[in-house]
Amino acid sequence: MAQVILENVYKSFPGRKGERIAPVTAEPLLTPSNEGLVAVGETPVPPTGGVSVLRRINLSVQNGEFMVLVGPSGCGKSTLLRLIAGLEEATGGNIWVGDRLVNDLAPKERDIAMVFQNYALYPHLSVYDNIAFGLRRTKLGNGELGVGSGEEQTPKQVPGWTEDALVALTRSLPKGLRYLSDKEKAVDEQVRTVAQLLQIEPLLNRLPKQLSGGQKQRVALGRAISRNPQVFLMDEPLSNLDAKLRAETRTQIVKLQRQLGTTTIYVTHDQTEAMTMGDRIAVMNQGQIQQLAPPLELYNQPANKFVAEFIGSPPMNFLTVQVKAPLLIQHSQFRLTLPEVWSSVLQKYDGLSLTLGIRPEHLSVGVPAPKNLPVQVDLVEALGNDTYLSVTLAESSTLQVRIPPDQVVKIGDALWLSIAVDKIHLFDPQSGLAMRSDC
Ligand SMILES: Nc1ncnc2c1ncn2[C@@H]1O[C@H](COP(=O)(O)OP(=O)(O)O)[C@@H](O)[C@H]1O
Ligand SMILES: [Mg+2]
Repeated sequence: MAQVILENVYKSFPGRKGERIAPVTAEPLLTPSNEGLVAVGETPVPPTGGVSVLRRINLSVQNGEFMVLVGPSGCGKSTLLRLIAGLEEATGGNIWVGDRLVNDLAPKERDIAMVFQNYALYPHLSVYDNIAFGLRRTKLGNGELGVGSGEEQTPKQVPGWTEDALVALTRSLPKGLRYLSDKEKAVDEQVRTVAQLLQIEPLLNRLPKQLSGGQKQRVALGRAISRNPQVFLMDEPLSNLDAKLRAETRTQIVKLQRQLGTTTIYVTHDQTEAMTMGDRIAVMNQGQIQQLAPPLELYNQPANKFVAEFIGSPPMNFLTVQVKAPLLIQHSQFRLTLPEVWSSVLQKYDGLSLTLGIRPEHLSVGVPAPKNLPVQVDLVEALGNDTYLSVTLAESSTLQVRIPPDQVVKIGDALWLSIAVDKIHLFDPQSGLAMRSDC
C-alpha cells in the first residue's frame, strides 16, 4: 500500500507536424516585500508546442483510498493513468508512489498493477496459468496476500536439471505426478487465495474462451491482485460488460478493495460508477481536474457548472435569470424570492444575470402562481420507481423533472412547476463558477 501524489503534472503529445515540445520549466514565485520582489517558491510554466492533454494536475491519493477519475471521453483520464503506470512520460511535474519519486522508473519498477478495459488474457493458458504467469516471472513474497515482496528464491539444483525445467516438463501430468518446487508451491498458494477471493475457483482449469465476459474480467483482476502491488490502476474495467453484470462486478471490486486495502485509482466515464465506488472522486474536463471531493459533496456542492451538469442523471437544469436585490430572481416566465442566505451574492449581482441550476428532483407539480413555471409536457418516462418528464418552458428551454411514480401526467399536459427554493444552485454565467450562499 502506498499513497500516490501527482504534483503539477503536465502532458503534451507532439502535434501533427511533429513539433518539439518544450518541457515545463520553473519560474520563481515572487511576492512583494520591503526589499522589492522576493522569491518564495517556484511556479511551473506550462510546456509549449504540441497538443496539451493534461494541465497542472495536482492530486493526492491517500494510502488505501479508492479514488475515481471521472470525465467525458477524451478528457485525459487514460493518459493520466498511463503516466502513473510509467507507460507514458510526463512533460512536466512529479509523480510519487509511496515515498519514491517514480518519474524516471520503468513500469515494472513502480510496483503497480493495471487492469484495462480489454481483459488481455493469454488465450492459450488456463485461468490458473493466467493468474500464475506474473507470479512465476516476478519475485514472490512468502506466498501470502498482504505481505510485501521478499527475496527471490534460488532454485535448488537437481543434478542435470534446474527446478524450473522439471516444473515445466511435468506441468501437463496429472496433479500427483507434477514436480512442485518451493517457488511453485508458493505460486499455487497465491493463485488459490486469489481465486477464492474472486470466487473463480471452479474456473481455474478453463481457457479464456470458455469464460463469460464477467468471468474474464474477474480473472484479469485476479492477475493484478495476485502480484500484491502497492497500487491498482483500473481503466474502465467494466465497460465491456452488460448492465447487470457491471453492477455486480462493481460491488465486488469495491468489497475486494476494502478487504485488501490497496490504494486504487479507478477511471470511468460513467458518473453512476464514480458515485457508487469512490471514497473520493476527481472530476476531469479538458485535461484539468475540475473538483475533487467525496461523492455527495460533488452532488450537493458542485464547484462549477461543468461538475453540476456531469454528476447526476438526468442532469441539472439551467436557466438564465436576472437579479433584483435584495432577494428576487426574475425570468420571463416566473419570479422567485430566494432565502436570506443568498442576499450577499444577489447584492453583488444586482441588475446582472446569473445561471440558476435546479436538479430534476427539486421541481414538482404545483399550482398556477407567479413564482411557478408554466410548462408543456413533451415526454413521460415511467420507470416504475420514478417517473421522468421532459417539459418545455416558454418554447425555448427544455427541463427534466422527476415526479413520484403514482402521479399521473400525460404528454401534452400543461403544468405549473414549483421550485424547491432551498435546493437551488447559482453560477456565474461567464466563469461557470458556483456561487456559495452564506449558510
Ligand atoms: N499518443 C497520443 N498522441 C496524440 N494524442 C493522444 C495520444 N494519446 C491520447 N491522445 C489524446 O489525448 C486526449 C486524451 O485522451 P485519453 O487520455 O485517452 O482520454 P480519456 O481516457 O479520458 O478518454 C485525447 O484528445 C486523445 O486524442
Ligand atoms: Mg480512456
